[in-house]
Amino acid sequence: MPTLKFAVLAGDYIGPEVMTEALRVLEHAAGQENLTLAYIKADVGGAGIDNHGTALPDSTLKVCEQSDAILFGSVGGPKWEKLPPKEQPERAALLPLRKHFTLFANIRPGLLYRELTDASPLKTNRIPDGIDIVCIRELTGGLYFGLPKQTTTLPDGDVQAVDTMVYRKSEIERIAATAITAARARKKKLCSVDKANVLETSVLWRKTVTDYVARHAPDIALTHMYVDNAAMQLARDPNQFDVFVTENMFGDILSDEMAVICGSLGMLSSASLGAGKNSLGLPFGLYEPAGGTAPDIAGKGIANPCAQILSGALMLRFSFGLEKIAMRIEAAVKKAVTSGTRTADIAFGGATVGTRAMAEAIIAQL
Ligand code: IPM
Ligand code: MG
Repeated sequence: MPTLKFAVLAGDYIGPEVMTEALRVLEHAAGQENLTLAYIKADVGGAGIDNHGTALPDSTLKVCEQSDAILFGSVGGPKWEKLPPKEQPERAALLPLRKHFTLFANIRPGLLYRELTDASPLKTNRIPDGIDIVCIRELTGGLYFGLPKQTTTLPDGDVQAVDTMVYRKSEIERIAATAITAARARKKKLCSVDKANVLETSVLWRKTVTDYVARHAPDIALTHMYVDNAAMQLARDPNQFDVFVTENMFGDILSDEMAVICGSLGMLSSASLGAGKNSLGLPFGLYEPAGGTAPDIAGKGIANPCAQILSGALMLRFSFGLEKIAMRIEAAVKKAVTSGTRTADIAFGGATVGTRAMAEAIIAQL
């Protein structure tokens, strides 16, 4: 029986709650195809700090290195907020993991089912058919990682902090290649988002994406947009985009905007892929929901597990090449939700179910 080897890093607060249910769904879907899950759980984030003294323990990194993919929950929360910024779960676990595995391509589907348009803060007449777009965010460059990155006291006594925004042409080309692949699987429309009217990195970004698409993907309709305009256009008419690609910091901001217009964070999955291949010759990746640890509802059994489950589906698709099972899981989530089984975040005052019952409804659809 073929086995799927992946690391399970559930993290903190609702992380383990939704992970348990996601594993239940994956187990069921895999079993139907005679596949076995062989996952190893490891501590990360606050759990890493509490149990090992560091957000990303060496033992956890080792488990990841020996796996074909990482299924990630979410990390951080009030319990660790008093630590120095560099030791906090987000900065000390997630960013080093992305860098360690060169996970430069973050794919975030912005998906809102027609039946859930009421969950969006946008007027429903603007999105009668829901939303279906994709954000491709560069994840290992730009302001997040550029050096110098430091705070210094100047000779005049003033204090100065600096972050460095830096991109190489090769880094832009490889994320452009990811975006082209994503656009080809959809409507072949790609919008590159930058700030080329001000930033040097954006001038290089725009030129590189333009040249790369002209050379490698003349079939793709490429457009460019300044990031401030893109933020506005996303709120005005999100479906004018199909796939958009942008640098790390802009992608961080625009993907949160995209998440909120898509209603609930509890529905949004993501994949972070890199140059590295796993033992199957497929992309090694980290798969995580977009919603965070939600400390306010942790321990109550009411968190929406859909984003974690859908992240599992992305893992099956990209890191294990199991497109058919991925699509079946995605269809089962959609069917369960649209036929009325809903956690509180997407219930609009109607009947609600808990985390476990949501997963059970999805399994029933499988
Ligand atoms: C995200 C998050 C992270 C980021 C934080 C937690 C470091 O906001 O994945 O979008 O900024 O990349
Ligand atoms: Mg973010």
